[in-house]
Order: sequence, then structure tokens, then C-alpha cells
Amino acid sequence: MTQQSGAFWAGREILLGVSGSIAAYKSAELARLFLKAGAKVQVVMTSSAKQFIAPLTFFSLTGRPVYDEMFSGGPEEATAHIELARRADLVVVAPATAQLIGRLANGLASDLLSTTIIAADTPVVIAPAMNPQMFAHPAVDANIKTIASWPGYAIAPPTEGELACGEFGLGRLADPPGIVEFCEWFLSGGKQDLQGEHVVVTAGPTFEDLDPVRFLSNRSTGKMGFAIAQVAARRGAQVSLVSSVSPPTPIPGCNHVKVRSAQSMHDAIHALLPETTALVMAAAVADYKPKEQAPTKIKKKAGPLAIELDRNPDILASLPKDPKRITVGFAAETDHVEEHALGKLKRKHLDMIVANDVTQPGSGFGVDTNQVVLLKADGSSESLPMLSKVEVAERLLDQVRTLRAAKERS
Ligand code: PMT
Repeated sequence: MTQQSGAFWAGREILLGVSGSIAAYKSAELARLFLKAGAKVQVVMTSSAKQFIAPLTFFSLTGRPVYDEMFSGGPEEATAHIELARRADLVVVAPATAQLIGRLANGLASDLLSTTIIAADTPVVIAPAMNPQMFAHPAVDANIKTIASWPGYAIAPPTEGELACGEFGLGRLADPPGIVEFCEWFLSGGKQDLQGEHVVVTAGPTFEDLDPVRFLSNRSTGKMGFAIAQVAARRGAQVSLVSSVSPPTPIPGCNHVKVRSAQSMHDAIHALLPETTALVMAAAVADYKPKEQAPTKIKKKAGPLAIELDRNPDILASLPKDPKRITVGFAAETDHVEEHALGKLKRKHLDMIVANDVTQPGSGFGVDTNQVVLLKADGSSESLPMLSKVEVAERLLDQVRTLRAAKERS
């Protein structure tokens, strides 16, 4: 949750929909976070959700009776969905099962929760939770895309991880604090405008092994690339994160492809290339690697030690031309920043390069902020002030949108 969350949520009415998934227990934590931030929470459960968590849990947390059945009470209950829909400032469905998503995508108002969502004239956030195979199924994928295309609707993407069924993959309900943050972003005007893009993002350093215990590497932590992956997924893109280092917590909506060396990053990028629509190389890739990798630990000897280095492949320069793909590089520079960056833009045939002066305090390696200039192949540029890496990612992805529009025109 952001620092402004308290003021942001104070007095807002949240309708929290809970459908029947093992992840339903996490919605109790979600209700608690909204309440803690000052919002009021009304829970509506499907009948299968009650198999996973008792309505009493939500009643105890929210102080409000939980609604579940469409016609369980007196005549006033028959119009409960209209009353509930009118009262809400935001509808959040977490977890949303494949069933609930399917019903909603097809406008089937078959129980109180689906009827309330359809009757609502407020923003709706859907947080899917299901087995990775189900999440990847073309029917579920199409339903999710349909919902995401509706004005006022957004999908809070699930995370990658181990699921209750024992499988690993993309489908785990996003963590409750991440869902609150997503809702805050969406209510503040966030758009899912990268639907249909498959953005491949590289982050962090590469490790070039010298022997079984030593390697050559650099100061990159991955923060810049993680921010780009997070924002791209939030804006509706399919995202593959290719990196040697892992984000502190899994990034919702991201498939993580773990690599180590420049060569393995090169191979992973090439394997993903047929489905990549935009590539953003924020990684600090080693230009050199040890010529020999010793099979056992190198022992110290008297006198200096010389290590011979070989060139690594230049990943960006190795890519075949594709007029539809948007290719963005970064340039970490310490002098003649824009001049060097422009040289790389041309040599590597990029659509855009992010010139990054890593000598500025608060900019470059390891920090949460960055100051960059976005230089495009058409000669235009945008010089950004010092911003958080998440804000830099937003601005960079705005330019990806502009580049996409230009490519579609040409
Ligand atoms: O990870 P953080 O701690 O948040 O730090 C962020 C950052 C400073 C690493 C990031 O903002 C940044 O500037 N990344 C690029 C660093 C870099 O290695 O730049 P370069 O000028 O060496 O490379 C130019 C471009 O070519 C880069 O997009 C790089 O990914 C790519 N490259 C480099 C070498 C190589 N063999 N193959 C490549 O494709």
C-alpha cells in the first residue's frame, strides 16, 4: 500500500466479491487491508465460496452481514443486487474463478454476485485465481480479454508461484497488498492500454563464471527492469521477465525466465522472440566473459593472476530485423551520455534508447529513482526529471504505445 492510501480510501464503499477458490481465505486479509485504510467493506459471496471460508469471518471483520443467495430472505432481498450495486464506489472480485469470469464475460447474471457486478455502474476490478493450465486456456484467456476491454473494468493479474494443486505457474491470486495498490492505481486513472502486447523485459546483471565459486558481474540490482515488468503487466500486457536476479516478491502477471550469463540471456531472448511484440533491455549485460571456466577452484599462487576474457554476444545487435517488434535498449553511461546512447541506438537498430547517466546521485544502479532521457530513432527525445523507477517505467511504456501507433500507421 502507498503512503497516501489512508486519505485515498477514507469513506469509500468497497463491494468485495468472493467466489469459490482455495484462495478465498486471502480475501479476509484483503477486507482487513481496505478497512485499515479507512474504506467500508460489504462482502458478497457465491455459494461455493462458503465451502472455503465462513461468512462469519467476514461478518466479524466488517461488522456487516454477508450477502450470498439471491432470494434467501424477504421481498426486499429480491432487489438487494441493485441496492448493493448503487452503494459501491468500487467492486473488487478476489478471488475470481474461471467460472465467475466466464459468467461475467457472457453477461450471465445467475447469482447475487454476478448480478450485482452487472448491475454496478462503478469501476470493477477482477482478480483471477486458478490453476495455471486453466488460466492459460484459450476460453479463459478470451473471457479475461473481453472483460478487460470493457470501460471501467480492470484485471488485477495473478502471480507466478506454487498453487494449492501443487503445480507451479501463473494463476495464484495476487497478494492482498498488491490488489489494494492495483485498485488505487486503477481508480486514479490507470489504464490497461497494453492489451495484446507481449513485452519481454530483461533486468539485473549477468554472472560470468570464472570457476565454481567466482564470477564477474556488475552493480545492477534489477530494480529498473522489475519496475518496467510490473507496470507493463498492470497495464494489461503479457510479460516475460528474463533475469538472473529475482524480484523481492513475484510480480503479478509476469512469467519469470531465470538466466545467469549473457549467453543464457541471449538464448532465452531468442527463444521468446517469435511471440515478443516489444523487447525492453534494461539488463546490464556483461560484454566479456572469462575465456576459460575452471572446473575447480582456482588456487592462489605467488604473483599476479591474468584472466583472459572473450567477447559475449551482443544480444540486441544479434536480433533479426522485425518491423513489427518494438525494441528498446538502455545505455548506462558515465560521460558524453546522449552521444554514446545515440551511437548504441544506431548500431543496435533500436526504436528507442534510454540514456542513463549513472554518475548522478539517485540515478542508475541500486536506487529506487532514476533520471533518464528517452531518445527515439525518429530523432525525437524526452528528457525526464528525477522520478521513481515505477514512474520512469510508466513514461517509457507511454513511448512504447506511441511507437506502436506509429508502426501501425506505416
Ligand atoms: O538494475 P538497477 O540497479 O535498477 O540499475 C538499472 C540500470 C542502471 C542497470 C539500467 O537503468 C541500465 O542503464 N541498464 C543498461 C545497462 C547497460 O549495460 O548498458 P550498456 O550501455 O552496456 O548496453 C546497452 C544496451 O545493450 C543495453 O540495453 C543492454 O541490455 C544491451 N546489451 C549490452 C551488452 C550485450 N552484450 N548485449 C546487449 O544486448
